[in-house]
Amino acid sequence: MVERVSTGVPGMDDILNGGIPERNAVLLTGGPGTGKTIFAQQFIWAGLEEGEPGVFVTLEEHPVQVRRHAKEFGWDFQSYEEEGLLAVVDAFTGGIGRASQYEKYVVKDPTDPGELMSVLRKAIKDVDARRIAIDSVTPLYIDKPSVARRIMFRMKRLLAGLGCTSLLVNQIAAHERGFGGPGVEHAVDGIIRLDLDEIDGRLWRSLIVWKMRGTAHSMYRHPFEITDEGIKVDPEHVFVKERGEIVPLKEE
Ligand SMILES: Nc1ncnc2c1ncn2[C@@H]1O[C@H](COP(=O)(O)OP(=O)(O)OP(=O)(O)O)[C@@H](O)[C@H]1O
Ligand SMILES: [Mg+2]
Repeated sequence: MVERVSTGVPGMDDILNGGIPERNAVLLTGGPGTGKTIFAQQFIWAGLEEGEPGVFVTLEEHPVQVRRHAKEFGWDFQSYEEEGLLAVVDAFTGGIGRASQYEKYVVKDPTDPGELMSVLRKAIKDVDARRIAIDSVTPLYIDKPSVARRIMFRMKRLLAGLGCTSLLVNQIAAHERGFGGPGVEHAVDGIIRLDLDEIDGRLWRSLIVWKMRGTAHSMYRHPFEITDEGIKVDPEHVFVKERGEIVPLKEE
C-alpha cells in the first residue's frame, strides 16, 4: 500500500484515489492566473493543519506578499513560521533591501540551482518538513532547456531523499499544449495541469491529472473554482472543453 498525502484541496483527493503518493515530486503546471500559487499554498497549509511541517519557496512573489496573499484565504503562514513548523524561502528579493534583515532563508541567486538546493536543504532540516512547494521552478531552467532534466532530477533526489512530497509549480504560456518541456515532464512523478479557457466570452477553470506515478487517477478533466476559501474541485463532473459544457461524470 502506498502512503498518500492529502492535497488539502476539496475534491482533489477523490480524483487522485486518495491523495498524492508519498515522496512524489509533482509538477503543477498551467498558464497565467490559473491558480497554481493558490493550489500550492493550500497544499502547504493543509499539511500544517494536520501537523506536517512544510517549506514554501517563492521565486515569483515577494515573501511579504506570499504571506499576505495566503492570509486572504485564512491561511496564517506567519504563525506557523513563528512556531518553527514552516519555512518560507525567499528566492525573490536576492537579499536586497529589508528582506535581508527579516527573512531567515534567502537565496541570493535564484538562477543558481545549487544555491537554491542548499538553502532548501537547510530549511527542510530546520522545520523537519514533510511537504514542499516551489513557486516556481521555471526560472531554474527557462534559459537552459538542455539541463532542465538534470536540474529536475537533482531536485527530486533531494526532496524524495529527505522524505518530502512536493509540488513544483511550472509556468507555461496561456495556450501552450505541453507541460514544461520534455526533460521536465518525464523527470517528475506526476503532472497536474490547471487551465483557464475563454468560451463564449467567459473564462472557465478546469484541471486534469496527466500522470501520477504509484496510483490510478481520474482520466477526466474536472471543473474547479476559486473562492475566498481557496480551490475546490468537482470530482463528479467533467468539463468538456470543446463544447464548453460541464456534464455529470456518469453520462460522459
Ligand atoms: N478570493 C478570491 N476569490 C476568487 N478568485 C480569486 C480570489 N483570489 C484570487 N482569485 C483568482 O486567482 C487568480 C490568481 O491565482 P494564482 O495566483 O494562483 O495564479 P497563478 O497560476 O499562480 O498565476 P501566475 O502564473 O501568474 O503566477 C486570480 O487571477 C483570480 O482570478
Ligand atoms: Mg503564481
